[in-house]
Parts: sequence; C-alpha cells; structure tokens
Amino acid sequence: MADSFINNFNPIWRDDIFDKQALDIHLYLPDVIPENNQLWVEKQIISQEFIFGHLHTYASCREMTSLVKPSDMADYYQVRNEKGEIISSDHPVFSYMFPPQAWMSDIGEELCMMFAAAKFAKGRILVGGLGLGIYPQFVFSLNCPVESITIVERDPVIIRLITEAWLGKDLIHRDKTTIIEGTIEEYLQKNDLLFDTIYLDTWEDADPRFLAHINYLLKLAHSRISFDGDIKCWGYAQMIDTFVENAKNLTRKSFLWNDYHLDPVLQAYSDWLSSQNGEVTVDAIKHAARECAVTINKSIDTYDRHRCFTGYGRSLHDAYRNSELSRKVD
Ligand SMILES: C[S@@+](CC[C@H](N)C(=O)[O-])C[C@H]1O[C@@H](n2cnc3c(N)ncnc32)[C@H](O)[C@@H]1O
Repeated sequence: MADSFINNFNPIWRDDIFDKQALDIHLYLPDVIPENNQLWVEKQIISQEFIFGHLHTYASCREMTSLVKPSDMADYYQVRNEKGEIISSDHPVFSYMFPPQAWMSDIGEELCMMFAAAKFAKGRILVGGLGLGIYPQFVFSLNCPVESITIVERDPVIIRLITEAWLGKDLIHRDKTTIIEGTIEEYLQKNDLLFDTIYLDTWEDADPRFLAHINYLLKLAHSRISFDGDIKCWGYAQMIDTFVENAKNLTRKSFLWNDYHLDPVLQAYSDWLSSQNGEVTVDAIKHAARECAVTINKSIDTYDRHRCFTGYGRSLHDAYRNSELSRKVD
C-alpha cells in the first residue's frame, strides 16, 4: 500500500475489541415486522452473549434486534418436486433448505465494532451503508465533533425503515444527518466533496472474499478524504487475518487451486505460490498472503463472490456449501 494511503487508512487498526460501554448506549431501532418474503424485523430477549470470546452477562436482560431476509442461495440452486417439476424459489421448502439470514443486527460484536470506529469520527463524515443506523447514533452519543453526517444507502426500504425508527425520533440527529439513496461507489466517483471521516460498511459479513472489493472502495475513498482525514472499514483487520490463515492452511494441505474459481485476492496468492520454486516457508506464505489481501482491488461487479472459493462460513455447514459452490464443473 502506498504511504499516502496508509496516512489516511491504517490496515492493522482493529475493531474486534470488547468494550462494555458500547453495550450500554440507547439506540433507536425499528419495531417488529412479521415474516414476509422480502425483509422483516425480529426481536429476541437475551441475558448473555459471547463477544469476541468473552461471555458477557447483562445486569438486566436486553432486547436484540435483527433484520432478516430470505437466503440468496435460492439464486444458486434449482429444486424439483417428486414429479421432476421445478419448484419456484418463493416456495416455503426453500426456507427449510436455506434458512433466512440475519442480514444486520445489534449483537454485541456489531455494537463493539461500530463503537470502536465511531470514537474516531470528526468533522464532515461520510458513511457507506446505513444498515440499522448504529454507527451514526454512536457518533452522536459519544459527542464527537460532528459538522455533518452524510450516509449513502442503496436500499430504499432500509432508508424508510431506519429514518422512521431513528431520525423521526431524534430531531438533533436529524438536523445534522443527510441520507442519500444510491451506491457508495457512485457517490465517491461522482462527488467532488472532501470528508474528514469516511466509514465503510456495505458488506454483510467478514468473508475475506469481500477484500478485493473493499480495497477497490478504499481506493475510491482515498480520493475523497481530506489531508488529515481518517478512513475506517468494518472488520478489515479481522478479514485480513482470516485470509492469511486460510492461505496458510490451504497451502499446507496442497489445495487444488485449479479445481476452484478464485476471487481476485486468492487468485493473486495462488499465482504467487505457483511462481515459487521449491519449499516455501510459513513466513513467506504469510507475507505474500497479506500483501495480496491488502493490495489487490477489484469491484464486486467483476466477480461472483458466491462462486469463488472460501473456507469461511457462518457455520461449518455454510463453509462446506460455500466451498462446493465454487468448484469448477467440467
Ligand atoms: C452491514 S449494514 C451497515 C451497518 C451500519 N454500519 C450500521 O451502523 O448499522 C450494510 C448496509 O449497506 C447497504 N449497502 C450495500 N451495498 C451498498 C452500496 N454499494 N452502497 C450503499 N449502500 C450499500 C446495505 O443495504 C445495508 O444497509
């Protein structure tokens, strides 16, 4: 990464840190929406949760809010009934095979991660991805020196839901906040404004297959950050670590790189590996994997994440299915 890049973005800064303060701040979140075939809101009462390996017990129970949507795996599989007829993807059988996913939630880990980033917010702030509006609410609660917050969100349903739940209830926050419907990629390319803080969080989980795209976003963000401004990305250091660990394990197990579709970062690592002669040390592997993970940049529009190999999954079952989806078929 170029030096000027590092001045505004520190790739080793971590947000996966337990911070009890993050769990005690009141947030305006949407009310329950019954299950439907698009997007709904679930609430759960919890008394304990694991946060980065630490079991936290709440003094009194708390309500956890999740935004849930049908799994996008229905786009990758075709299901037939006993007569051999194709079943439409909105049939209930799909939700048994591919259970709905919590798209966003205020679980403790999310709260801690966004809180860690919010502590650095200052001046003119640009946010990529509204989500539940947790990060900007933290910025205000922390009394950060905010001049304005501009949030770019591509989903109009999210904008409506969160505007009602949050900005409709807090007029001080509303005065300083602008929500723009659109993609952060387009906004960063088409605007000539400079920001003092840019917070990027448009990807749904910490899957390292997002890294090439995040690096692409970082490149765009770099052109819109003020001289001493600061860019933060949700989960970046954690994703780099996961990628390096995966590359090390795959190499040790003599993974058959050519049998799978690879995302741009893993492809770059595989190319590096095949250019090496003889035994490669663990340090060399880690160094090369890390270099690929922080430098390779490609928009997600240029590759299908679900068709690229990963060892990552929200569960073991997920990880197996992900890896099978990426196998090349003859
Ligand atoms: C994980 S959530 C963000 C959570 C958020 N940081 C918070 O404070 O609650 C990701 C959000 O980014 C939005 N999103 C996804 N891709 C986007 C894009 N290219 N441009 C703008 N928003 C996007 C999603 O619709 C979703 O609302």
